[in-house]
Amino acid sequence: MATTNDFEIEYWNGVAGARWVRAQKRFDEMVQPLVRPLLTGDAVRPGMRVLDVGCGCGGSTLDLADLVGPSGSVTGIDVSRPMLRRARARARERGLDNVRFLEADAQTAALPEVDLVFSRLGVMFFSDPVAGFSNLRRALLPGGGLLAAVWAEASHNPWMTDPPAVVADVMDVAPTHPDGKGPFALSDPDEILQVLEAAGFAERRVEEHRGMVRVGHDASDATDFSLRGIGRVSAAAQDASPSALAAAEVALHEHYTRLAGDSGVLADATVLYVRAHA
Ligand SMILES: C[S@@+](CC[C@H](N)C(=O)[O-])C[C@H]1O[C@@H](n2cnc3c(N)ncnc32)[C@H](O)[C@@H]1O
Repeated sequence: MATTNDFEIEYWNGVAGARWVRAQKRFDEMVQPLVRPLLTGDAVRPGMRVLDVGCGCGGSTLDLADLVGPSGSVTGIDVSRPMLRRARARARERGLDNVRFLEADAQTAALPEVDLVFSRLGVMFFSDPVAGFSNLRRALLPGGGLLAAVWAEASHNPWMTDPPAVVADVMDVAPTHPDGKGPFALSDPDEILQVLEAAGFAERRVEEHRGMVRVGHDASDATDFSLRGIGRVSAAAQDASPSALAAAEVALHEHYTRLAGDSGVLADATVLYVRAHA
């Protein structure tokens, strides 16, 4: 198995990183409700030191900073320079001084000691998951915990899998990642539990959480997000001919019109909540 994350580092620093920065506000609004239950209760308390893994543009890092308060601290770690630039700017805008960001590979970097390792959809991309999670466990102080959300299997996430199927006749949509799994690389609960065990975690739990994401405020907005936001269709759209693009636009608009309602375009989405202790 490969032990470096060269592909991911290039991917998240290239066109994908730029697209994610553009889509930051939309993605935050989409996934915040899906992940919020993970942060409720006393899982994240004032004064805690937290590491936010694969923090991207910092949406969850800022949420965590609010929860730990001025006596706590949050370190966001990510490999994507453009996304971290956005994250740092957002923390500055809010005047937060309990947040810092680290540009590094969480699988191999020397990590700060923390009470909690958190991740919102940022731990699925390790080339060697056991090495990655072992590194995260080593960052935990005695009694510390891991709290992460990962995407559940593709068939439970039509918000991601429907658009490529809808445009398949008119556009060549390739997988974004060489293993073909990408965001679904940790979508098997049994495999997650095995990885956590091999990485030395105790009290391992995986819980499915089904919800919905709001892909757009109407069919046109959702179509625009699919074609010019993030995901496999937007990657394919970049190199598509004008006629293919026009046909894809029609097909996606029809698809999203069927999903549109009073609250916008809603699509099923499922995540797994992963909890463990050092
Ligand atoms: C799906 S995005 C999620 C970003 C963010 N957590 C959010 O919810 O908006 C995955 C993030 O993981 C980061 N990532 C991928 N592999 C990584 C690694 N080995 N170390 C640190 N970050 C990584 C990517 O750069 C990207 O920002």
